[in-house]
Amino acid sequence: MSEDGTDSGRRRFLLGSTSVVGVAGVVGAVVPFVGSWNPSAKARAAGAAVRVDISRIEEGAILGPIPAWRGRPIFVVRRTQEALDALATIEDDLQDPASTQPEQPEYAANQYRSRRPEILVLIGLCPHLFCSPTPRLAIRPEPFEPNWKGGFFCPCHGSKFDMAGRVYSGSPASRNMQVPPHYYETDNVLVIGEDEVSA
Ligand code: FES
Repeated sequence: MSEDGTDSGRRRFLLGSTSVVGVAGVVGAVVPFVGSWNPSAKARAAGAAVRVDISRIEEGAILGPIPAWRGRPIFVVRRTQEALDALATIEDDLQDPASTQPEQPEYAANQYRSRRPEILVLIGLCPHLFCSPTPRLAIRPEPFEPNWKGGFFCPCHGSKFDMAGRVYSGSPASRNMQVPPHYYETDNVLVIGEDEVSA
């Protein structure tokens, strides 16, 4: 495997199932699935991997329509350098800035929580009660956080997550958003639901 996660001999790694909740308030570029490569809806619900074309996600935008894997929404965001630089500046405000939680691929345990710094891949569900957080990707003051550096806000009970899915201290959620298993088949084709790291 190359450092950017390009696969050469992957093995399947599946997460446990959880609730299915809709996605509200999503903004960003509209980028289609790699339709001809994707499994059927029935196969996806059963856990088959999903391939998406990330080539047209602009900087600062989220993939849309939102892909689903195992019935769960997946957020794929192309972070700006400004957003990446901001990650280190808010760590004192976070519950688990080093992302030490065990239920995630090992490549999520770093500051960026991703295989490629600019591309963030998250399960789009709040770990509190599984609402789907709203992407608030711009760096600007928000009513819920004057020093907002971009991220995701859960409207259900007010949990806040940064641009790596790390939860802010004081949020009802007690864990960071989950990173699904994923790898890059090519520079522009992201495969969600499989990796070559975990057996
Ligand atoms: S479900 Fe997100 S804060 Fe409660």
